[in-house]
Amino acid sequence: MVREWDPRTASSAEIGSVLDTLNAVLAADLPQDPPWREDSLREYLSEVMPGERRISWVAQADPPPGGGPAPILGHVHVLLLGDIGVLEVLVHPAVRRSGLGRELVLTAARRVYQEGFRSIGVEVIGDTPAIGFYSSLGFTREYVETRSVLDLGTVDWTALTEMAVAVDPGYHLEFYPGGPSDDLIDAYARAKAEVRDVDDGELRPSSYDPQRLRDSLDTLHRRGMKPYIVLALHERTGTVAGLTEVVVPVQHPTRADQYDTIVVRDHQGYGIDRAIKARMLLELRSAEPELTEVQTWNAQANEAMLKVNAELGYQPDRDWCEYSVDVAELVHRLDTHR
Ligand SMILES: CC(C)(COP(=O)(O)OP(=O)(O)OC[C@H]1O[C@@H](n2cnc3c(N)ncnc32)[C@H](O)[C@@H]1OP(=O)(O)O)[C@@H](O)C(=O)NCCC(=O)NCCS
Repeated sequence: MVREWDPRTASSAEIGSVLDTLNAVLAADLPQDPPWREDSLREYLSEVMPGERRISWVAQADPPPGGGPAPILGHVHVLLLGDIGVLEVLVHPAVRRSGLGRELVLTAARRVYQEGFRSIGVEVIGDTPAIGFYSSLGFTREYVETRSVLDLGTVDWTALTEMAVAVDPGYHLEFYPGGPSDDLIDAYARAKAEVRDVDDGELRPSSYDPQRLRDSLDTLHRRGMKPYIVLALHERTGTVAGLTEVVVPVQHPTRADQYDTIVVRDHQGYGIDRAIKARMLLELRSAEPELTEVQTWNAQANEAMLKVNAELGYQPDRDWCEYSVDVAELVHRLDTHR
């Protein structure tokens, strides 16, 4: 049975059951990824940016013969933002290939259509069943990045310490656990906005104006995701010349997520990229003792970033794609298929 589900009011048993399904999916599809923990999972599933909405459904099995709560074996949510619905679907490996994934997508797609949105986007991970699944539903690939993973156990910390100081003397680096201080928000947002002009099309969410940046930092905190920032400041003008952002989610604190790394165009060629990333790893080592890995996503064309990541020891892991589909066509196709 598929029913609409609100994680804010769901029982702890239901939240635990979604976690069990998520971890079964990870074990089947991404066995190298760490399992998730229940910490702040409810908030992770319910908190959104101002102006966005997330609608969720679950597929619940029949109650077990001996009593107790019925397990949740499928979950779908759609995040409505701008003019697009961003979909995430999970089906427990024990019940796959029985049409549940398709049913969950149809349920969410009908709502997205009713809400007046025109397209649905989804992140699809390379070398997993999701590729065949979304292709069979008529989704097409828009964009592909490579996920790379750095095992902190392999890092040469002495070399990294040297990299962190090998920056032109016209700059200095600052570390901000929790996010940039309020007096730097405007300069920080300006640096992000400038790079957006030249490097659009990223998969990761970015924030460009000061209020949106504040909202996005606040949303991260509410979802149990701790942001860390290293900034390169230009001594003479005080402008933000470069920044790198890493988020440590309380749901999987052994593996952090690299978000944006930006060097503003006028400040490229001074060793900032390598230095801010090296400094970040050094800071994380003491700030997050449980951390063992950092993962990052890069466009395959971004050769400069890939080169720095390779020097730091990142290993390419797998493709990470963005697929999309026209909602009306999807609903029509799935309704005809039934
Ligand atoms: C992708 C996923 C939702 C599919 O769920 P499902 O219930 O097995 O899908 P369905 O039974 O509805 O399959 C519908 C169609 O998709 C296609 N499909 C599904 N799995 C496929 C696979 N492994 N290979 C090729 N095609 C596949 C088939 O055409 C299938 O129709 P058929 O069974 O009649 O041939 C499920 O595998 C899943 O949860 N994957 C993990 C999702 C994810 O990426 N999570 C993020 C990482 S945690």
